[in-house]
Order: sequence, then C-alpha cells, then structure tokens
Amino acid sequence: MADAPKPVTTLGVVAMKAKGERIVMLTCYDALFARLLDASGVDILLVGDSVNEVLAGQPSTLSATLDQMIYHTSMVRRGTQHALVVCDMPFLTYQVSTEEAIRNAGRVMAKTGCHAVKLEGGRPIAATVRALVDVGIPVMGHLGLTPQSVHALGGHRVQGRDDKSAARLKDDAKALEEAGAFAIVLELLPTPLAAEVSKSLTIPTIGIGAGPGCDGQVLVLPDMLGLNDRFNAKFVKKYGDLAGQVRDAVTRFAGEVRSGKYPDADHSFQQ
Ligand code: KIV
Repeated sequence: MADAPKPVTTLGVVAMKAKGERIVMLTCYDALFARLLDASGVDILLVGDSVNEVLAGQPSTLSATLDQMIYHTSMVRRGTQHALVVCDMPFLTYQVSTEEAIRNAGRVMAKTGCHAVKLEGGRPIAATVRALVDVGIPVMGHLGLTPQSVHALGGHRVQGRDDKSAARLKDDAKALEEAGAFAIVLELLPTPLAAEVSKSLTIPTIGIGAGPGCDGQVLVLPDMLGLNDRFNAKFVKKYGDLAGQVRDAVTRFAGEVRSGKYPDADHSFQQ
C-alpha cells in the first residue's frame, strides 16, 4: 500500500521554495470540498474571508466575523488530512492592538485546529506579526490588493504600478519576512514586480493575479470551478463549468419530478 502523503507544514512550505517546487493553494470553506481538495494533493487550503462574499452574499469581506471564520475553518480542518489549513483573520480582529490580535488568532487556532492565520498589510502590522510568531502562531502575509482595504485603495485595481507604491510594496514584503511570516500572498500586481519581490525573499510568495513569477498560485475555489459564474476577472482561469452542470442537473430533476418520471422503481422501495 502506498504511504499516505506527509502533512504539509509551514516549514515544509518554505522548503518547497528552496527546492523550486511550486505551491498550490485554493480557498476552501467546508469539509465536503476540503476532502476533495486534500485528496487531489492541494498543498494549502485557505479559509479566506472571501467566504463572506462568495457564500454569504455580502458585498465585501469587511463584515466577516471571527465566529464565521471559526465555523468555516473548523469544517475545513475536519475534512483535511494532508494540506496546511490557513484561516484569514477578519477586518479589525488584528489591527486594533497586538494583545487583541494574539487573543483572536489564539482563539482561532485553539477552536479550529488550523495551522496558521493570514493577515493583510505590511510594515504597519509587522510588530503584530512578530508578536504572533513569538507566541507560536504561524502567519501568512497578504500584500498588493488587500480586500479589507478595498475602499482605501479605490476598488479592485492592480497595485504597485508606480515607482512609489512599488517601492512600498517591496519594503512591506521585507518587513513581513523579517517579522517571521512564513509566506506572503501577492494579489493583483504587475508580473515583473511580483517576480522581483519573490526573488528577493527566502519565504514563498503565493500569487493571485500576480503572474507566473510567484512561488505558488491561489485562486478562489468557486471562481476557478466556474461555480461562481458572476465573477469574471482577467486572472481567473475557469477549470470547470460547475454552474452550468448544477443548472442542467436541477432542470432535469425538476422536469422528471413534474412529469412523474422520478422516482422510478429503481429509486423506490417496494417493501
Ligand atoms: O479571502 C480570500 O479568499 C483571499 C484570497 C483572495 C487570497 O484572501
């Protein structure tokens, strides 16, 4: 019998970069999909606060709550044996004070069994990242288009296009690495800038809309499966048409119920 794959660890993810192995990350919000992604060999399952938009139907990630993230992360963790599970810390659960950040991230880790948390921001939150790492909570950073700052950034726009913001981004990435982050998500950046940042770090970058020069890639699961058919961004490659399949299956079911074709003898009990 083949050996079960070894669980992915934060140190293992850093080692993957050193070995030149690309890291595969997808968002995941429940145990059902976690089992499927885990069995498909995905390295990292990110319980993104995008759950608030994609599943809960809210207009942004800003209203996601800690309890909501704990609920979804617990489900994902229950469906996972191999992948590293990372939970997004929601807006204002880590920015107010370092003490609150430790308390909230500690609660997430203890209640869900996840392996790490993700925070948005660079140098301004580096001290918080250091404090979390020092108490044993691994941190993934997130730079570029940081959705919790979408209004301050003027919408979902590519970041780092001018010299000043590119320089700030490089400094932010260094600050996160020095603070002890084990990986950084780079969202919506020009390809050359993301490649330069990735080369300058020993920790891996995981890109979303940041081109092929990152050390790994992440997409929002319902987007890449073609299940969220309302979201069409340039960087999203659709690997499936689940929305079409769902519509087709449900239409056939409805037709068979209405015509009396379902349930037939094969799907009924005679005694
Ligand atoms: O919340 C999320 O899904 C994310 C990804 C876009 C990286 O942060």
